[in-house]
Amino acid sequence: MAEIIAIANQKGGVAKTTTSLNLAYSLMKLGKKVLMIDFDGQANLTTCFGIEEPNSIETNIAHLMIAKMNEEDIPDKSQYIVSNNGIDLIPSSIYLSVVDANLRLEMGSERILFEILEPLKADYDFIIIDTSPSLGSLTINALSAADSVIITVNPQLLAMMGLQDFLKTTKKIQKRINSKLEIKGILLTMCDSRTNLSKVLSEQMSEAYDGVVNIFETHIPMTVKVGEAIYYSKSIAEYSPTSKAGIAYADFAKEILTYEER
Ligand SMILES: Nc1ncnc2c1ncn2[C@@H]1O[C@H](COP(=O)(O)OP(=O)(O)O)[C@@H](O)[C@H]1O
Ligand SMILES: [Mg+2]
Repeated sequence: MAEIIAIANQKGGVAKTTTSLNLAYSLMKLGKKVLMIDFDGQANLTTCFGIEEPNSIETNIAHLMIAKMNEEDIPDKSQYIVSNNGIDLIPSSIYLSVVDANLRLEMGSERILFEILEPLKADYDFIIIDTSPSLGSLTINALSAADSVIITVNPQLLAMMGLQDFLKTTKKIQKRINSKLEIKGILLTMCDSRTNLSKVLSEQMSEAYDGVVNIFETHIPMTVKVGEAIYYSKSIAEYSPTSKAGIAYADFAKEILTYEER
């Protein structure tokens, strides 16, 4: 049975998409069967996966959400799961922003994504949801479907601002909708070891959240290779496995697996 992990933070540009892709790839390399869900209307993960025109895909996560909302049958999984390089993906497109608006009007709509993922859990070890940069109805749906959440934080970007709001939303979801939701931890991304600021902010984070939220031992370093890899529609772990970020994501996947065994 798959563990469903949401990668989240209401800020943009904190490596949610990069982490989703690289964690998925690294877990696959460790022999795990992984499905990724692109749950952002910007469809960055879908593009990184090598689908240049997300709108050209006939059935994506938005169509499934609409069908579920309308209590219609959803198509066979062969119609909406795409595979590449040993990883599966349910793509997204800008159409997901229509879903976002509709969800707000629909009663009890928080569990729609959960209903879509439930029958897929038996096929995978991990289902990784890449979320959008908001605390809106889409992210609430993702957190309601998830067993756990990894919060990506960029220590360059006033890292602690907004984190309290995120944790508060998570607590509400745990209390009202999804009591099994666990905060797995904070992953520090785009760490620039050359600057003191990055170090100081990382230390501050560790102090502020010590005993409150786990901060993963692995930090993801900043490297131009990440952008290069995306250009070639590859994860950094695949494009440049010996680069610092490639090694870090492989370590992070191992850290996640040891976390599971605790
Ligand atoms: N470790 C890294 N080093 C350098 N650039 C990175 C790294 N991680 C992410 N990036 C870049 O930062 C930008 C934002 O990353 P992304 O994963 O799209 O964030 P989000 O999904 O949170 O908006 C992208 O251009 C990505 O290529
Ligand atoms: Mg993203």
